[in-house]
Amino acid sequence: MHVITTKKNVKGLVVERVPTEVLRLLEAAGRAADAEGMAAYAVGGFVRDLLLRIENTDVDVAVEGDGLKVARRLAEMVGARLRPHDQFGTAVLVLPDGLRLDVATARVEYYEYPAAPPVVEPSSLKDDLFRRDFTINTLAITLNGPEPFHLVDFFEGQRDLKERTVRVLHDMSFVEDPARVFRAIRFEQRFDFTIGRETLALLKSAVAQGCIGQIAPLRLGAELRYMLAEREPLKMVRRMAELDVLRFVHPALAGDGDGWRLLQHLKDVVAWYEPLYLDVPVERWFCYLLALVDPLPAEEARAVGMRIALPGRLQQVLEAFGQQRRGLPAVLDRRPPPRPSEVYRALEGMAPEALLVLMARSSEDVRHLISHYLTVTRGVEPALGGEDLIALGLEPGPRFTEILEAVRDRRVDGELTTKDQEIAFVRETYLARSR
Ligand code: CTP
Repeated sequence: MHVITTKKNVKGLVVERVPTEVLRLLEAAGRAADAEGMAAYAVGGFVRDLLLRIENTDVDVAVEGDGLKVARRLAEMVGARLRPHDQFGTAVLVLPDGLRLDVATARVEYYEYPAAPPVVEPSSLKDDLFRRDFTINTLAITLNGPEPFHLVDFFEGQRDLKERTVRVLHDMSFVEDPARVFRAIRFEQRFDFTIGRETLALLKSAVAQGCIGQIAPLRLGAELRYMLAEREPLKMVRRMAELDVLRFVHPALAGDGDGWRLLQHLKDVVAWYEPLYLDVPVERWFCYLLALVDPLPAEEARAVGMRIALPGRLQQVLEAFGQQRRGLPAVLDRRPPPRPSEVYRALEGMAPEALLVLMARSSEDVRHLISHYLTVTRGVEPALGGEDLIALGLEPGPRFTEILEAVRDRRVDGELTTKDQEIAFVRETYLARSR
């Protein structure tokens, strides 16, 4: 076992930037590796973000030797739950306080032909880092051995962090793993970096050769989701469009000016909605996806969802939205404006993500109607239930739904506010008449 470092001691930086419980865990991982006679390193995004002074407690540990053995010992030492994946020599540790740590055996990965499943074998840290996507992700920190908490930098990761550049390690990187096209854009835009000149040429050539088409639907969906879940999804979309990536996700996603305006409005709508902390959470990335497919005919929007293997519920929302928004303007744009109960009936059943996109594409008046629905009337229910109607002497049957909806409408419109008023209304409207 030999350890190569740059002699740059980063203990001070770790102590300064990393929460104490994470530091303790890293030290314990070092001791566990010592006990097994192996070398352990913190690797990847955690190290990159540490040097960028960005908070990231998502630690990946790579072990030269057997990651599972170190993980088991560490789990015992710190009282963590261990979820091993024997097959890959990796394990996830979950501590009682919820902190997680990924431990893996350092491994070499090679491809027998482009886009083939990789062949994986245990190997050195250097090999492990060489198989990674970009130089900025190849930095490591020793956790044990003669010089713990020293930076390991085989591939000029520090230089590229300083130069704020995303660079691949070798010419075949995008061909071997086309998903890296998305990752390059994501890191570039997230950190305000630049994709290096040669790397950009390799990326463009991989895209032009149709590499995006080789990405399996689930994987493609995950990459798109990561892009849209970033803090600034518009930057991601703009760069994806610029580099022709979206067109290769689906030809209909070439992008145009209208689509762009919608995304900008959506950003404002999301910024309004999220701080409200309503009990209806939205999947923000999915709002942006809906907005991206919004200009498309229903059939093409559906095809985009299929191409990225959207989970069933979301695919349903996407397809339903294509239908729903057609009928809506008639109700929402009406003059004089519809009553709150009519808005309720029109919007009921629409997913919150769809409602936000609808807001983004609507006039200010309609936006107010939808925001009133989302924040005030959505979820309003009558105080009365079926039992109450029976107690009032009504015959149970399908008519109950109609009655309760009528009661709810009046609540939504502010005409009824108490249960007594509801009872009086039901008596007057349904009992007086049936007598
Ligand atoms: N990786 C890779 N190729 C991929 C995906 C991941 O080489 N297609 C490598 C990267 O070097 C990365 C590591 O695997 O550092 C872990 O992946 P992930 O957790 O996705 O990366 P992070 O860098 O932690 O990204 P994020 O900050 O978005 O979590």
